[in-house]
Formats: sequence, structure tokens, C-alpha cells
Amino acid sequence: MNLRGRSFLTLKDYSRDEIDYLLSLATLLKDKKRKGILGDSLKGKNIALIFEKPSTRTRCSFTIGCIDEGGHPEYLGSDDIQLGHKESIEDTARVLGRMFDGIQFRGFSHENVEKLAKYSGVPVWNGLTDSYHPTQILADFLTLKEQFGKLEGLKLVYVGDGRNNMANSLLIGSSKMGIDITILSPKSLWPQGELIEICKDYANTSGSKIEITDKVEAVEGADAIYTDVWCSMGEEDLAAKRIKALKPYQVNDQLLAKTGKAHTIVLHCLPAVKGNEITYEVFERFSELIFDQAENRMHTIKAIMVATLGNE
Ligand code: CP
Ligand code: NVA
Repeated sequence: MNLRGRSFLTLKDYSRDEIDYLLSLATLLKDKKRKGILGDSLKGKNIALIFEKPSTRTRCSFTIGCIDEGGHPEYLGSDDIQLGHKESIEDTARVLGRMFDGIQFRGFSHENVEKLAKYSGVPVWNGLTDSYHPTQILADFLTLKEQFGKLEGLKLVYVGDGRNNMANSLLIGSSKMGIDITILSPKSLWPQGELIEICKDYANTSGSKIEITDKVEAVEGADAIYTDVWCSMGEEDLAAKRIKALKPYQVNDQLLAKTGKAHTIVLHCLPAVKGNEITYEVFERFSELIFDQAENRMHTIKAIMVATLGNE
């Protein structure tokens, strides 16, 4: 599989086989790391890490993933560069494209990551925008594969803000990979109709089922329940409204009991607000798995960089 030179902006641009390939490569790199074997596939490559929003997992995954493969990462926070203050995204992209071999962007507008890819001429990886968080999905799917040995036919229920970057990306990824995906959320927070239509097309090919509902009974039969914060970065002033709307959708023991399954797992992309989207007890019970999921960010992000920029 040759993904050289490709950007990674949303999973819409990647086929099922390509996503499978990235997951297999991540497993291989995870194995190597466990054995203490590092690679040199990014040797001589300079990688820019632009962050308009804060990050623990994504930043550390790109940094360590890059260094493990012999590359050089450069962190560029929003106060460190001209971007957004004195220089347009197009000009910043053209400058960075002359100096760097790859660019990670975490920020607000999805349009900006698209412009970076268009104008820089080097692979650009989306480390989260308001609309999508595709690198997170690879870590989530690697974790599901490790737990269940497969993706196809699993039932994944995302509970919470159904129109945020995580819900959107899980919808895209699941419908591509043959995972039955339920978005469980109050109607006011459902995903955009246009995205649902696109994902229905993917589901027709993959055999996945899509359900968008506000009925908590929909968790029945779930293999995995997934949640995320009720207020994404940049939406902090909506907290009171969101808590009111989403309280009935908290991942707690009562909700888990409705799955009717003894072995439903709980995933969270982190960071978590315990007491809001998930109770402290449920979080701690599944914490090993949730932190496996966090660790898998590094192996999967490394796989993306190696596949699109590596020297092999
Ligand atoms: N899950 C995730 O993207 O975490 P960070 O915000 O810490 O990068
Ligand atoms: N929806 C969250 C995801 C954090 C990884 C946010 O955008 O803040």
C-alpha cells in the first residue's frame, strides 16, 4: 500500500483498505516499540506541529512518534508564530512548506487545515479541528481491534454531543469499516444531515448500520460505549446549556445496565470531565482500557507519519 505524500485531513479521504493498512502498521510499530526497536524512517525529516488549541496526547504522540523514527519535530504554538496574527494561512503554509517535510495542525477552522494542505505542498495531518478528529479514530479502532479481534459487525454507541468533531469522525470511520454506529444524543445536538447522507453511502458499501437517536434504550447490545466532553475546546461558555441538555446522557451504571451485555466496554478520547459525561466510578473501572486507547494515539500517529512521509 503506497500512501506517500498524502495528507490526512479526514477519514473521508481514506478507503477501508487504507485505514486497515494504517492500523496494521500501527500494530507493527507498537510491537517494535515494546521490544525497544526504534526506526529511522523519518530520518532527515523536519515536522512542524502547529497548535492553536492545547493538547496533551496529540502533541506528545506526534513528538515522540517523530523522534522514535529519527525525525525532528518543531512545536509551533499560536503565540510563537505569525499565523492568525500577522500572516494568512496561505502564506504561512507556503513558508512552512519550503522548510518542513510534514505539518501537523490542530486548530479551530477545518478550512484552515485544508488550506495548509493545499498551499504547503507537503503532507498535512489534522490533529483536530472543530469538525473532525481523524487521528483519534485510528487509536480508537486499534483499541477495539485489540479488544475484540475485529471491527466489522461491532456495535459502537457514541453518547453525548452528537455534532462535535468526535461524533463526526466516529460516524465516518465506523460507516467505512463496517462497524454499526449509533449516535445517542438530544435532537438539538444531532450530526448534520449532509454528513449522515455521506456516511449512509459508506455504510451501503461496508454493511454497517447507522442509527441517530435520542432514546437511551439504543445502547442495547452495545459492544462499546464511547463518550467525550460535553463542551469542546472553544465552547466553554456553553457549559450550563450543555449540562442541562446532556445530563440524561451521562455514561453511568444505569446506562451501562441497559446494554444487556456483561462485557460492554467504555472508551473515552480524553480529556474527561468526570461527573459530567462519565461518572468517576465508570471511568475508573475502564481506566486501563481508556489509557490503552490514549497510548494507541502514539502508535497510530506514528503509523500515519511513517506511511505518508517515511523513507521506506
Ligand atoms: N484526545 C486528544 O486529542 O487529547 P489531547 O487534546 O490531549 O491531544
Ligand atoms: N471534542 C473534544 C475532543 C478533545 C480531544 C474537543 O474538541 O475539545
